[in-house]
Amino acid sequence: MSGFILAIDQGTTSSRAIVFDDALHAVASGQQEFAQHFPHSGWVEHDPEDIWTSTLAVCREALAATPGGASAIAAIGITNQRETTVVWNRKTGRPVANAIVWQDRRTAGTCARLQREGHEAAVIEKTGLLLDPYFSGTKLAWILGHVEGARAAAKAGDLLFGTVDSWLIWRLTGGRSHVTDATNASRTLLYNINDNCWDAELCGLLDIPMSMLPEVKDSADLFGTLDAEHFGAELPILGVAGDQQAATVGQACFAPGMVKSTYGTGCFALINTGESRVVSQNRLLSTIAYRLGGKTTYALEGSIFVAGSAVQWLRDGLKIISQAGESQRLAEASDPEARLYMVPAFVGLGAPYWDPDARGAIFGLTRASGPADFCRAALESVGYQTRDLIEAMRADASGLGQADMVLRVDGGMTVSDWTMQFLADSLGAPVDRPEVLETTALGAAWLAGWKASVWPDQDAFAERWRLERRFEPQMSAEERDRLYAGWQDAVARTRSTGS
Ligand code: G3P
Repeated sequence: MSGFILAIDQGTTSSRAIVFDDALHAVASGQQEFAQHFPHSGWVEHDPEDIWTSTLAVCREALAATPGGASAIAAIGITNQRETTVVWNRKTGRPVANAIVWQDRRTAGTCARLQREGHEAAVIEKTGLLLDPYFSGTKLAWILGHVEGARAAAKAGDLLFGTVDSWLIWRLTGGRSHVTDATNASRTLLYNINDNCWDAELCGLLDIPMSMLPEVKDSADLFGTLDAEHFGAELPILGVAGDQQAATVGQACFAPGMVKSTYGTGCFALINTGESRVVSQNRLLSTIAYRLGGKTTYALEGSIFVAGSAVQWLRDGLKIISQAGESQRLAEASDPEARLYMVPAFVGLGAPYWDPDARGAIFGLTRASGPADFCRAALESVGYQTRDLIEAMRADASGLGQADMVLRVDGGMTVSDWTMQFLADSLGAPVDRPEVLETTALGAAWLAGWKASVWPDQDAFAERWRLERRFEPQMSAEERDRLYAGWQDAVARTRSTGS
């Protein structure tokens, strides 16, 4: 059998498809952006039909460029933006509302109420998450409470809930499979990561009928078989993982203590904690890294909501650059003594602060401040925010041999050498950039290829990971701490609570 795998990477701003051959090289791809909807301040929505049609289009594009076409594909792997919430009618196949995107803050009030009522400790204990609007549960409750007739239809068993993976699989299989994997389930606020099952108490707390929930499978499993009408072949879907977990797999972070950080719209750092769940003392998330052969591997995660999107803002909002790549050139040219701090809390602050009401701020402006200083401050904010996460991880995971932490990085921003050097300087730790930067898609492809028995096993896959460049810290510890103290002061002044 051919070892070609089609990886679908359905992200926040675009849908992508990449075909990998059995040497793990990308041989064909397609990519399409789709519309973002911002109906109110702090709200972010996607049309699930756009997610579907853009995914179909990019798969067709990639398959058309694949030698042998769809019939050369052994299996499909899917990875996706996590937490984004879709509800659809199982009879008509139609969504009842736009998808509520992970960045959406509309349920901040619900989360605050649940905190006041004393529910957070139980939520942390069961799900590894916190009461923050980031996760799916309160978004799903919002749809049931605000879309006319939705709650009654859900109670009657007519509505289905899914994260984007479930939605795509349901459509790809002609409504035969309503499934998800353990990593995606672990982001919903409804899934008990200790017992590996949906939690009846949490569903009761949010008044969510459990009949809406998908069946939860291993990350490498048979999720369903495609209708031949889509691509002309009945292909099996054999791998599924949320995008940050797929990147963890793609970076081969299989041993406890290994850390990866992905720089896309936001930045998400995960440290593998092995078979035991580590409970964070520093407001990080405990989450499922992957579940293979019924065995769960856990991770601690730090989630930052704005990384690459700060550069997008410089380009599309402020219009001081015309392409993302210019930000590095300007940052290099800026006056290093002009100490601007940008706290890009455009949609609140994620880990370790979890402040949904904070909004962005810039400190240190003078009459001499200009576009170059803004670019530098935006890129530096990525380094400082990562240090916030890594400090928390170092404290939480001290038993995992983190004295010699090395960060494996991937995602669009990592092409910037300047940003990666500043990251290594901020952390005081080496930053490793691999040859393959498509680690998210590669991780999903590996899950499917391994399950199909056409790709190498975990150890052999890990051996194929190749370093492109290591960035060693060059800054003195004194300078590093002086700069970081300025960042901490800027964050304290940005927080909505003023703490
Ligand atoms: O948790 C949100 C994350 O999965 C989104 O990732 O790459 O689409 O920005 P990305």
